[in-house]
Order: sequence, then structure tokens, then C-alpha cells
Amino acid sequence: MQNSIKSILFQCPTCEKPFLLKDLNFCCPKCLRVAKYSPELRRFDFQPFLNDFSTLQQERTSFAYSIYSLIYAPIALLNLIAVWHGSLGKQIRHYSESFQKSHGPILDVAIGDGALTVLSLAKFAQKSRKPCHHPLLGLDISLDMLSKAEKNLSKIKNFVSIRADARNLPFSSGSFNQVFCYGGFHSIPLPEKAMKEIFRVLEPNGRLRGSVLLTPNRPISGALIRKYVEWGSLSTNFTRFQFLSLLKKAGFRLISTESNGSTLLFEAYA
Ligand SMILES: C[S@@+](CC[C@H](N)C(=O)[O-])C[C@H]1O[C@@H](n2cnc3c(N)ncnc32)[C@H](O)[C@@H]1O
Repeated sequence: MQNSIKSILFQCPTCEKPFLLKDLNFCCPKCLRVAKYSPELRRFDFQPFLNDFSTLQQERTSFAYSIYSLIYAPIALLNLIAVWHGSLGKQIRHYSESFQKSHGPILDVAIGDGALTVLSLAKFAQKSRKPCHHPLLGLDISLDMLSKAEKNLSKIKNFVSIRADARNLPFSSGSFNQVFCYGGFHSIPLPEKAMKEIFRVLEPNGRLRGSVLLTPNRPISGALIRKYVEWGSLSTNFTRFQFLSLLKKAGFRLISTESNGSTLLFEAYA
């Protein structure tokens, strides 16, 4: 197992018992389910725990992303520019600043195909003239998206991938100082559960940084957005007020927001 993440305490997402380590795999002492670790992929797979929270909407979302993963990067870029009127440069700047502000292990929730992470790490390295040394745990529920992230981030020494549900995180409370969630909350069905879980795994005053797509304020996009919700690639069509209320309800204190077209870049303290 990666030395860089040995300090992180993994726990059963259902029974909340610390895992026992068995031949590199994690085993819950109560429900006896096993999460497998693949050294060659540097992947922890919590697949046996994914059904605990499964809903029809999550199944639709996971299916949509397994198709989407085939050509995710160009489609996401086209959507960002044409539908949400955002700039890729602004998104990458915010993401790379997140690496700059980090201390210790970083949990990147809903990492997707990792393309944006790679660009942001490159920008960080260019600015600070050194690569990011912090352990980076990229978490996603979709194996297809995660496999792409593993390829895209294969050169990042401290990267490990975690297949798990953001609404049922396999970590002890207060495990992280930094959690990122770029483009995740509008995709995760029942995002309030993911928000509460992220709050739980952050230490007090730990930081959440990320982005979320908000309802575009042009009527022409309305029909397209409804289609995305139908397909499952978009689960919640947030207004700015709804999203900020969700953050507050989970216990977060807002530090800053920045608009990027109709997307919102944000930073909040636990
Ligand atoms: C729009 S992509 C974001 C990808 C990347 N962070 C980016 O900004 O390009 C949303 C991701 O959320 C993931 N996702 C959806 N539901 C999830 C859940 N319950 N737990 C973890 N990830 C989930 C999808 O599989 C997808 O990869």
C-alpha cells in the first residue's frame, strides 16, 4: 500500500468500524465485507458497499457517466463554454490554487476522468516550480471515469484512486484538512448527503474548495438542462441560493465565491 496514505484512517462506510487490514485489503470486523486494494492500479475498491445507498437516480447517473467517460473531456469543455458560459482558464486557476493552499492529504471527491486535475497540477507546478507532493486521493463512484483518471494521473506518484460513494465515505471523521469537489455536487444524487459526509471527514476548520454548475440564466439552455437531468448526467439544477443554503445546512462557513459564467467557484470552512 502507498506509504503516503498510511496515516489516513479508513472505516466501514456502513458500520463505521475501523477496517482491519487483511492481505492489503480492508475488511469490516462487523459486516465482514471486504474492500479490495489493487497495487498495480493503486485503487481501493469499495464496490461491495455501493449498494447501501443505491437509488434509481444514482443508477441512471452511473450509467450516464459510463457512456460519458468515452468522450468526457471534449463534451465537458463544450458544455462549460457553450451552455454555462464559463472559462476553462478560470476553473483551472481556482483548482490549482486549491493545491497551493493544501497541507497534507487531499481528498478529491467526484474526480471524474482526472483531466482537469492534471491541468491544474501542471499549472501548480509551473507557478510554484515544484510538483505537488501531497497525497491525492481521487474518489468517484463510476469505475469507467475512475479508470480514465488512473491513466491520466499515472505519472503522479502520490495519487491513489478510491471507488466509493461520496454520500457514504469510507474514512474516519476529521481525516482531511482539504477536500476538493469540482463539478460534483450537481452530479451526485442527494447532494446534501455528500455535503454532510464531506463535512464529517474534514477536520474542524478544514477547507472545502470546488465548483458547481448553477441554472444558466438563458432560457435557451432550459430544454437542454432538462434533458441532462433526464439522462442522469446532471442530478440537481441548483440556483446560487439553493447551493449556498445546502453548504450552510451541512455546517460549512463560506469563505469566498467567484462566478465563472453560470458556474460557481467556492471555498468554505468546516
Ligand atoms: C461532472 S463529473 C466531474 C468530474 C471532474 N471533477 C471535473 O471537474 O471534470 C461528475 C462526477 O461525479 C461522479 N459521481 C456521481 N455520483 C457520485 C457519487 N454518489 N459518489 C461519487 N461520485 C459520484 C460521476 O461519476 C462523475 O465522474
